[in-house]
Amino acid sequence: MENQDQDTCLVHAWLDGDYIPAGKLRLTAGQAEFWYGNHFLEKGYALDPLRLPLTRKVFQSDRLQGALGALGDALPDSWGRYLIKRQYGQTLTDLDILTLDRSNERMGALRFSRSFETPPPPEAHTHEWMEHFETWLNDNSAPLPDHIEVGSSAGGAKPKCLVDYEERKWMAKFRAADDVLEKPFVEHGTLRLAEACGIPVPDSKVLQLPSGRYALLIERFDREKRTCVHYISGKTLCGVLNDDRGLVTNDTRSYLILADNIAKVSDSPGADRLDLFRRAAFNILVNNHDDHPKNHGMIRAIDGTWRLSKAFDLVAGEGDSRDMAMAVGPAGNRATLSNLLRGSPSFALKMDAARDEIAAMIGKLAGWRECFSEAGVPERTINDITWAIQEKADVPRD
Ligand SMILES: Nc1ncnc2c1ncn2[C@@H]1O[C@H](COP(=O)(O)OP(=O)(O)OP(=O)(O)O)[C@@H](O)[C@H]1O
Ligand SMILES: [Mg+2]
Repeated sequence: MENQDQDTCLVHAWLDGDYIPAGKLRLTAGQAEFWYGNHFLEKGYALDPLRLPLTRKVFQSDRLQGALGALGDALPDSWGRYLIKRQYGQTLTDLDILTLDRSNERMGALRFSRSFETPPPPEAHTHEWMEHFETWLNDNSAPLPDHIEVGSSAGGAKPKCLVDYEERKWMAKFRAADDVLEKPFVEHGTLRLAEACGIPVPDSKVLQLPSGRYALLIERFDREKRTCVHYISGKTLCGVLNDDRGLVTNDTRSYLILADNIAKVSDSPGADRLDLFRRAAFNILVNNHDDHPKNHGMIRAIDGTWRLSKAFDLVAGEGDSRDMAMAVGPAGNRATLSNLLRGSPSFALKMDAARDEIAAMIGKLAGWRECFSEAGVPERTINDITWAIQEKADVPRD
């Protein structure tokens, strides 16, 4: 594949141990087009089984969303864009941003380049690099760490980087300047509590850095035995659209819509819908209201099967709103168990089974203090977060 013009780039996707050309992306102001290459049409896989089936056609969308959401998922959010701006100090196009990080560390299994001959990718960031990065985070007059673009593809708004540690691949998250609580600990405790509640979550650990501050390490689920695993976000699955100021223009941010689309894509639709129901119940019960569609997603595992990804960005007491970030039932985003229960048919759950699930979870929450304590969460932080955990919630009758 040869590149044609500055508005076009090659899209590479990981397949059988390497990145191979998957297709071409043309991106001009307000208009995006993608088409698969012949080889990938024969040997590859649909980058989004719902909206980008493996067919010979030009897929179109305004910007990298809708039909092209699976490619948009490779773009950074506000944190990665901040990093890139710090490094390059100018406004770059989305195509520039996509092609900046050509390393094997990019999130998911896609890579973008303006020409087929790409320079050798930089090494993954080491633990020492992460410490330097953390120093810079807290003192922007410190020298900018090199190859900051490696990891800039990670989404989200909070400070983070990608790091190799003890021969495993992690996402490191740091305490933001405006965090009142010791967030790395609260997130670690919440992840371990979710695991105790039967929700699959990545391994995580809190590390103390030379500065005395802490970082949360979360093992990457988009790497499996050192191969890259393709990922699409809940935003793409729900078909959420934004205008050019970033405001949402349709109302598809919903667990019910997500459950429907997961059922269409998943190779284990029953198990994945039940898992999603548990995540919604957990988020209500620990008052994690930052459960927006980009905090969910699906992976295409190395055996080619599609599954709900492990849960991430679970933080008790998180979010500014009283409501959930997605609809959980007929009363929309209202953060109540009865709202979720009335939505249970969308998760293919009978009412009694849904009640049993919630009751079992509340039973597990009774041990949250021990769980947080075992996770090393300091006593004062446990006290500060007590308000958020509804360990004494009642299972609604209707
Ligand atoms: N363990 C993981 N493995 C692979 N990808 C991950 C993992 N955790 C998070 N991600 C990806 O990185 C993105 C950012 O992570 P996360 O949501 O934890 O960051 P955040 O800054 O707290 O987000 P937000 O802006 O929603 O608060 C996620 O949207 C997801 O695509
Ligand atoms: Mg997030």
